[in-house]
Amino acid sequence: MASSIFRTKSVEQPDAGLKRCLSAFDLTLLGIGAIIGTGIFVLTGIAAANQAGPAVVLSFIFAGIACAFAALAYAELASTVGGCGSAYGYSYVAFGEFFAWIIGWDLLLEYAISVAAVANGWSGYFNNALAAMGMGLPEVFTKAPALGGIINLPAVSIILILMGLLIVGVKQSAQLNMGMVFVKLLAIIIFIGVAVFNVHPENWHPFMPYGWFSTLPDGKTIGVLAGASLVFFAYVGFDAVSTAVEEAKNPQRDVPIGIIASLVFCTLIYIIVSGLLTGIVNYSQLGVSSPVAHALQLVGVNWASALVSTGVIAGLTTVMLVLYYGLTRIIFAMSRDGLLSSFFAEVNPKTQTPVRVIVICGLVMALIAGFFPLGELAELVNIGTLAAFVLVCFGVIILRIRRPHLPRPFKNPFSPLFPVLGMLSCGALMAFLPATTWLRFIVWLAMGLIVYFTYSIRHSKLAQ
Ligand code: ALA
Repeated sequence: MASSIFRTKSVEQPDAGLKRCLSAFDLTLLGIGAIIGTGIFVLTGIAAANQAGPAVVLSFIFAGIACAFAALAYAELASTVGGCGSAYGYSYVAFGEFFAWIIGWDLLLEYAISVAAVANGWSGYFNNALAAMGMGLPEVFTKAPALGGIINLPAVSIILILMGLLIVGVKQSAQLNMGMVFVKLLAIIIFIGVAVFNVHPENWHPFMPYGWFSTLPDGKTIGVLAGASLVFFAYVGFDAVSTAVEEAKNPQRDVPIGIIASLVFCTLIYIIVSGLLTGIVNYSQLGVSSPVAHALQLVGVNWASALVSTGVIAGLTTVMLVLYYGLTRIIFAMSRDGLLSSFFAEVNPKTQTPVRVIVICGLVMALIAGFFPLGELAELVNIGTLAAFVLVCFGVIILRIRRPHLPRPFKNPFSPLFPVLGMLSCGALMAFLPATTWLRFIVWLAMGLIVYFTYSIRHSKLAQ
């Protein structure tokens, strides 16, 4: 099974009848490959230690509910509009250029900062593995300046390695990707298998030490709901399934199934893993860069810690690869539509990959990964993604009004109730994010509007 996201041909010739080879099951695996990563393996620990305590399980449930509404909205658009994948593609076809631009600009933030954030998570586990072999790097080279380091060197390095891989074209890596997804699932199974025998229920007391929500004098937000808006990061990526629309055997049936099935599966895994993690050690001990491995070490099961770390390192690599590719694909689509310079749409004739986009994105993301801490990056990803989800839900309502008779193989039940609930729940998660995150997001949006009104509006294919 070769997943579309690694197919260089779709970038080179987006409309050139790609082979329809992916079943609903394949798409579900693709989603799982993109979803499970730093969120569950790292942020669970940070959220439990600093924001929610053992009630981080509830944080996962709340974030999962908001995602479920958004996933249903995605599924309806995927089945109704089809076209080239991603919310940007749907909105362009369904709602026109400006709406699509805003969503696309949001998605750039989501994908680019996600890769940097996941690279941070990867770095934590990688350094943990090096330390286990007695070769751990000095702290100043594994932490961002805000955390007392100089640069996060492993995070920078892994992004540059992936950049090289994407340049040479990773069609062959699709198989490798699937292999790594299974390794990641195996790591989770090992963790669950070991953890169930080491739970001490007293660790679940107090269950909700930081309450539901409050803001500290330094602007930090704590409580179960603040935790939900942080661990929401764990669900980022399910929309990657929608980028495979051109290669699904029966896209209008299978893409909605793939999106929803992968989300349901991941939610269950998150509830089980976060519940067990806070059950085997006290939540206050989980605020480290590789909490799952750390917890297994604390309970004395070192072999499992080493195995799980290896699985996590492989698993996080797949997440980065999928998101990095998704990013280049969205930029490619936006420049093909004239909204970004055609400079980005250039495909290198030798490698048949969009080398310029890959290199520029790689360098920018490597810098961000090297100098910013994981928590801040994840919050920025979340606000951008949640904003895109609010717009996608809104889009479903608008399309129902403007084109009521379009065939809709997949429909949201009780419309417009579900899309409205999606807008409300995603909007609420945005509201629980810190003020600094809001500020950064507003600056990003303002930059987007400037680019649109100074460049895109004059060069767009629609305008011409
Ligand atoms: N959901 C992905 C992760 O948790 C981005 O790493």
